[in-house]
Amino acid sequence: MTAFHGSRTEGPKTAVYEELARQARGLFEGERDLIANAANLSALIAFHLPQLNWAGVYFLKGGELVLGPFQGKPACVRIAVGKGVCGTSVATGRSVLVPDVHAFPGHIACDDASNAELVVPLVRDGAVLGVLDLDSPVKGRFDLDDQRGVEGLAALLVNSSDWDGRS
Ligand code: SME
Repeated sequence: MTAFHGSRTEGPKTAVYEELARQARGLFEGERDLIANAANLSALIAFHLPQLNWAGVYFLKGGELVLGPFQGKPACVRIAVGKGVCGTSVATGRSVLVPDVHAFPGHIACDDASNAELVVPLVRDGAVLGVLDLDSPVKGRFDLDDQRGVEGLAALLVNSSDWDGRS
């Protein structure tokens, strides 16, 4: 692991995500522990990206999503596949970009402050292993640049960590 430099990243969104990916690679270097890497990725995202109130991971365990490392208020621990934004991402195997969570049928409100959400599946060899979930108090906070950037970070987490014995 290389040192984390604690200054916020600024500039065009794509450049911000390139920098976040560079820092994530540094944090994951020489470390394959899934919980440690998921914890550091959550912290990296929460520290660097503006206008977030929650960032973290759910792991698919025994056929349902179970809360993993995160930054933000305490959250719902278990989410069924197909339920909420997170469960929808697992059921479809796709990222789900929600500009207004109040317009998303079945959205699960863990933090009243959340108004927009981006959920990206963690996929290895075609199998969904969990999700990376970002919440924002600002409607319309996430766009396709965010989706692509967060998908890149999710892929780094998947490829840099050991998943043996999970799901
Ligand atoms: N809103 C999510 C639940 C998880 S929290 O946002 C942390 C959902 O609808 O699946």
